[in-house]
This record gives sequence, C-alpha cells and structure tokens, in this order.
Amino acid sequence: MLARFRPALGASAATVRGAMAMRSGVRYIGSTSPARSDAIFIHRDTPENNPGIPFEFDAKSMSEVKGIIAKYPPQYKKAAMIPLLHLAQKQNGWTSISVMNYVAKLLEVPPMRVYEVATFYTMFNRNPVGKYFLQVCTTTPCQLCGASKIVETIESHLGIKVGETTADKLFTLVEVECAGACVNAPVVSVNDDYFEDLTPETTVRLLDDLKAGKPVARGPVSARNNCEPLGGQTTLTTPPPGPGFMVRDDL
Ligand code: FES
Repeated sequence: MLARFRPALGASAATVRGAMAMRSGVRYIGSTSPARSDAIFIHRDTPENNPGIPFEFDAKSMSEVKGIIAKYPPQYKKAAMIPLLHLAQKQNGWTSISVMNYVAKLLEVPPMRVYEVATFYTMFNRNPVGKYFLQVCTTTPCQLCGASKIVETIESHLGIKVGETTADKLFTLVEVECAGACVNAPVVSVNDDYFEDLTPETTVRLLDDLKAGKPVARGPVSARNNCEPLGGQTTLTTPPPGPGFMVRDDL
C-alpha cells in the first residue's frame, strides 16, 4: 500500500506530481507550456475584416499576377498561392478574409485551401498592421547579442507591447524567430528591410527617423560593411589573382 503523501504547504503542482510519481512508480511526462504566438489564428468577422469588404488586384499587381501564374502548368496554378498572397498583402497591407477569398477565386480553389496556407505561415498578417511593421528577432544568437534589450527599448519608446500597434497606426511590434542574419545580430526588420547590429541607442534613432519620415539606411547600423568582421576585413584583402593563377604554363 502506498504511504500517504502530504504535500508541503505552497508546493507547486509539478513538485506534488513528481513526489507522487516517485512513490507510486509511475513516470509522468511533462512539457513546458506552449509558446503563444503574437497572432490569433481564428477569424471572426469584424467591421474592418469581413467578406463584404471588396478586394481586387490593381492594374500593377495584375500584371505581376499574370507573370507568376505563367510559371506553373495551367492545371497546377494553385502553386502560385503563396506568391499571390504575398503580392496581395503588399497591396492591401495585410491579409484580410477578402484577400484570401479573392486569391482562392483567382486560382479556382476552395477558399479553405487558401485559409490553410495563410494561417500556417505567420508572415501573412491576418490583422491590420502599422505603416512600419517591426519584427524583432529573439532567437539565440540575437538574444546573446542583446535582443531582449532591443525589445524593451522599442516597447518603452513606443509605449506598446509585443503584438500591439501604436495608436497613430505607425508601428506594429512582433517577435520572430531567426531572421537569417545572425552574423549581424541583433536584427530588426522594418517591412522589407533589415536593420542590423542594433543597440538600444541606434534603435531609438531608427524609430525616431521613421516617425519623422526621414530616409533610413538599411543594413548594419554599425560601421562595418555588410557582414564583414566588426574589427575590419581579415581575408580577401588583396586583389584576386587573374585567370591562370597556379596553373601550369603548358596547359
Ligand atoms: S538569430 Fe536573429 S537573425 Fe538569426
């Protein structure tokens, strides 16, 4: 018979479960709580996002659409779904239900096929975002180089939390996984441009410049060129040898 187990006052549920498991010989498998995304993946009709709001590609987008669809055999034109959604998001600013329905109609697929794709890829913003969509990378290399400080700086400077938009609809802030520019960590993307090697000070300057409508130079905000070492170039410091280098004269 199992001895009676009496948990200490204030013991956590996990501690209690662990102690009980040890006594009963049962092994429980635990997991961390699931990370919550910045986005909600269900759709509810709202005044700003409902199927009654019309959406169509404009003439400029339509000329691109034709080129995109032409890349695929006619029977597989649904393969153009992601590029078309991307184009539609660019035109509309975000991927509304009307955008998804329109793309479905264009590709002659049931709307559900488009919903499945648009809800899977978090790059499709299914709620309106600000004029400047700030995506802060908080994956390990960026984290080690100060990404948390960058998030804190943006939150305190703009007065919003991750997942929120400023009242003037200028900025939306989200956290993302590796942006693929780890060598220039920490990294924030603003719409389609990357801003790299950020510090809290340069982040504030970037936000102020964007707000003031000043031109901003994308890429590393440090002095380094692209992703060369911070201390300067250490390889390829001489002009490359021409054709025939190290090749036998008789060849
Ligand atoms: S970890 Fe931030 S860009 Fe890769």
